[in-house]
Amino acid sequence: MNREQKIIAFCCNWCSYAAADLAGISRLQYPASIRIIRVMCSGMVHPEMVMHALAQGAAGVMIIGCHLGECHYIKGNEMALARAEVITDTLEDLGYASEQFQLTWVSSAEPERLVEAFRNMCGRLAVLQSEQSADHIM
Ligand code: FES
Repeated sequence: MNREQKIIAFCCNWCSYAAADLAGISRLQYPASIRIIRVMCSGMVHPEMVMHALAQGAAGVMIIGCHLGECHYIKGNEMALARAEVITDTLEDLGYASEQFQLTWVSSAEPERLVEAFRNMCGRLAVLQSEQSADHIM
């Protein structure tokens, strides 16, 4: 993945944002390309926000919310899950790859899981970009 490229991670205040804090306290390292945006709930992230981030040049976008059944606003993460299907369908219509979007659940006590999700997203995007450059060469 290009060093300049960014991955936008919308993190729920109550879980993944707290997990990111804990990752920092625990000195867990995650890729420098990750840019965290704190939201109060994963259900607040409208699909247009995802599309806007990609249109502005983000390599990928993540939405990271509380585990299902643990949303502080009861059904926010269920809404995020329903929107994820719409986002995935829309991505390909707009010429993006489905790999450029990921919805994940992480609790505040799971900083390792959060860091692993960040690394997996970076790895997926690196593979995608190398496949795309190989396609351009052929
Ligand atoms: S409060 Fe965390 S996903 Fe809703």
